[in-house]
Amino acid sequence: MSSAHITFDTTGDKIAHRVRIMRPSAVRNLFAAATRDDVISLSGGMPAVSLLPEEDVRRAVLAAVESPQARAVSLQYGPTDGLAGLRAVLADMMRDLGIRVKADQILVTSGAQQALTLIAEAFIDPGDIIITEGPTYLGALQAFSAFEPDIRAIPFDEDGMRMDLLEAELERIGKGNPRLKFCYTIPNFQNPGGVTMNAERRRRLLELADEYGFMVVEDDPYGRLRYDGGHQVPLKAMDDSVIYLGTISKMLGPGLRTGWIAAPESVLARVNLVKQGADLCGSAFDQLVVQHYFADIPWQRTLQKFIALYKERRDTMLAALEEFFPPEASWTHPAGGMFLWITLPDYMDTDSMLAEALEAGVTYVPGNSFFPDGVTGKNSMRVNFSFETPESITEAIRRLAGVIEERLELYRVFINAGALPGYGKEAVMAENERENWDEVIVASEQNEEAVMQSHDGDAAQIEIAEDKVAEAEEEAR
Ligand SMILES: Cc1ncc(COP(=O)(O)O)c(C=O)c1O
Repeated sequence: MSSAHITFDTTGDKIAHRVRIMRPSAVRNLFAAATRDDVISLSGGMPAVSLLPEEDVRRAVLAAVESPQARAVSLQYGPTDGLAGLRAVLADMMRDLGIRVKADQILVTSGAQQALTLIAEAFIDPGDIIITEGPTYLGALQAFSAFEPDIRAIPFDEDGMRMDLLEAELERIGKGNPRLKFCYTIPNFQNPGGVTMNAERRRRLLELADEYGFMVVEDDPYGRLRYDGGHQVPLKAMDDSVIYLGTISKMLGPGLRTGWIAAPESVLARVNLVKQGADLCGSAFDQLVVQHYFADIPWQRTLQKFIALYKERRDTMLAALEEFFPPEASWTHPAGGMFLWITLPDYMDTDSMLAEALEAGVTYVPGNSFFPDGVTGKNSMRVNFSFETPESITEAIRRLAGVIEERLELYRVFINAGALPGYGKEAVMAENERENWDEVIVASEQNEEAVMQSHDGDAAQIEIAEDKVAEAEEEAR
């Protein structure tokens, strides 16, 4: 019997427009490089799951399979909204954050990431306006972008999203604009910024939402990972119309894909419809394990261990930045979470610098990945402090400082020659807090020497520097 060979065209015009415009996630792309033995990864956002007590995990997993009744639930299809028992446990847990919701105001999702996709699908038509922090979580940008919104990114400072800039943007958008759908915010220890929105701005955001008629989506994966200062009241506790996204990823483990949406029933009904089409229901097995973990096991004890570990790592990173980074760089000082945000002078490009960083054995995520236009933020980067050991963090920051210092040195040559448009010696001297140019050069050389002293692969460094000089010469032509 002969078999016909059929060729399907799976490229070009056959691909949906919304997929053709999708950008890959820089973090996902860095995953492979980050696992190389000689590379220290500051790029991921992975919790230290190896800290979880084996006995606790075993008990939670066994509870989901050891009885026929449990297996009849964990191995079966479940309700689209999620298992009733888990929803009750989640409602209970949210009470310690000051949020009062009933179990039926919760819909369980496959991680907070699915919550973002479901919300986007339920609410965004092409051209609708969405407000986010700029920079913001790149997984949210990916989820939203598929539905072709017009994303307006509002800068933050150490107190979270700048309300003055949000107001100015809202004035441009106009009151009652039907295209304006929602503001997506990560108020606690923002990803990627590490900053936290203060109480006054939280109140103002809710007032503006009411005045301009948009929904507020509060994404809170890191809220319980606080290392200093007092708890901030969630937006959801201040106004029950807020759509709150939670996840167990940073408290238990992202391998059990479990997150949730707490929202008014009218919102959940729409999201439920979308979820039916996406997956019918989430993994009942994962949900039952999560339910037992948070209901029957002293999980707060383990969370305290995570907090102590991450706090030490954050402190280590801040100390290393102080020690090794050049004065032109600045960074945020997170009171919790997993990330901090580093800003370099405007003329630096962290996207193209990544190749040199990899060569030097360190990865980060270039800042432009966190902006909807993929261009803004080129002089910044996100670094993670939750995953690597303190020793590796110090080493990674030292390597990164070396890479940055080499680029800066090159730029200083151009600035000295007046060849960098819009950037003069005055600006560099001010950034460095130096009175004259020679002092800048001496400080830079000292800094570089300190960093280079511990570089073993000097030959590779020199080669990279030579390539860069050639590249810069080419650019200057
Ligand atoms: C701000 C933010 N939202 C959502 C997610 C997705 O979390 P999950 O693992 O629950 O899908 C992450 C993951 O890092 C995140 O940082």
